[in-house]
Amino acid sequence: MTDSTLKLGDKDYPVRKGSVGPEVVDIRKFYAQSGMFTYDPGFTSTASCESGLTYIDGDAGVLLHRGYPIDQLAEQSSFMEVAYLLLNHELPSKDELDKFSYTISRHTMLHEQLAQFYRGFRRDAHPMAIMCGVVGALSAFYHDSTDITDPQQRMIASHRLIAKMPTIAAMAYKYSVGQPFLYPDNSLSYTGNFLRMTFGVPAEEYVVDPVVEAAMDKIFILHADHEQNASTSTVRLAGSSGANPFACIAAGIACLWGPAHGGANEAALNMLREIGRPERIPEYIARAKNKDDPFRLMGFGHRVYKNFDPRAKVLSKAASDVLDSLGINDPVLDTARELERIALSDPYFIDKKLYPNVDFYSGVILSAIGFPTTMFTVLFALARTVGWVAQWNEMISDPDQKIGRPRQLYTGPTQRDYVPVSQR
Ligand code: SDX
Repeated sequence: MTDSTLKLGDKDYPVRKGSVGPEVVDIRKFYAQSGMFTYDPGFTSTASCESGLTYIDGDAGVLLHRGYPIDQLAEQSSFMEVAYLLLNHELPSKDELDKFSYTISRHTMLHEQLAQFYRGFRRDAHPMAIMCGVVGALSAFYHDSTDITDPQQRMIASHRLIAKMPTIAAMAYKYSVGQPFLYPDNSLSYTGNFLRMTFGVPAEEYVVDPVVEAAMDKIFILHADHEQNASTSTVRLAGSSGANPFACIAAGIACLWGPAHGGANEAALNMLREIGRPERIPEYIARAKNKDDPFRLMGFGHRVYKNFDPRAKVLSKAASDVLDSLGINDPVLDTARELERIALSDPYFIDKKLYPNVDFYSGVILSAIGFPTTMFTVLFALARTVGWVAQWNEMISDPDQKIGRPRQLYTGPTQRDYVPVSQR
């Protein structure tokens, strides 16, 4: 929808309204008409695409998936329902959900040759390194679903990725602890199947704890999608070249691994453990405020949220519920709560609008469930695969989609002649 324009120089550029949120000025013709580029490293003021999947109001602390508030989805929905919603625009009927869940469950196994892939890694390899390698290698096995121009193949590839991520993640964990891989048990829920493949052993029956299953499913919902974050933008950019979906998701996994992004959940728990006791918090707050110290409070701050991350609110409550229910008294939770209290009363954090984000409390719950910190970002990637494939499908099915090709402000040397080494 355009009903106004913005004058830049002597040209008027259309201003487009979305259904909600900031308007955009369409500058696609700006360079052709002005000979200038816009300059926005980090894309703080740039809309890279049009999307109907997820809306974030950073000032109000609102997150909607196809219009549904994240707290309602987290409390009332399931990860499979949210996956269907993101992929198919609407919440499923019971029959649609059953069919979707059945379809996903029929893709949970990995090719036996792919299981051999793990043997090439050291046992102490970081599971995210394994995820990058194994997911990228999927494109070597599924040539029948890499023709991205075929909607049917796109959907099969999407289902395969959503279905196989729990198996790949569980196998990465098993490999790291020297235990045998467990095959999927499709009589279990998506999340129950993942928990069994991760924590079950051949010697005995694994009984899924409903409290853990519900907490894990809620964590998956909270990490499913988040607008055009760094890893989603990576998936879109990779996909814009026509790369196959498995390679695109592997690129997203690599980007998510960074401690400024999805790697923050591992870093946040390591930080909380390093702080150890509430009385040591002021020392770390001082470091976080010290411009000469690269230390930042991991799990705090966000490019978009300048209010509470709504996901952090849900996880903060879930942390208490899960630890109480499991009878776990982890002092890290007390440290996290005291750190949050002190930081949110400190002018530095108030002025810079730094609040806990999704990564601040998630690690406390994951640790209580039994995951090592090295698995935290793997779990983030498992859940975010739903958002990545939904965003990728949305992009690929856009007939106007072009290859992403940003320009630059060049500040290097202007043209000069080569000087032979004998004259240098
Ligand atoms: C995720 O984009 C998404 O949607 C991401 C995500 C998703 O679901 O996909 O939500 C998931 O990545 C959450 C963020 C996880 N990262 C962390 O928790 C790492 C710690 N946080 C920061 O590194 C930082 O807050 C970012 C990277 C998250 C956001 O950085 P911005 O938007 O680029 O902001 P900035 O770095 O410019 O910071 C603004 C100011 C700076 O001070 P000044 O230069 O203005 O003086 O705030 C300071 C920063 O130094 N600051 C912090 C801080 N975060 C920002 N100071 C101390 N501790 C922090 N955590």
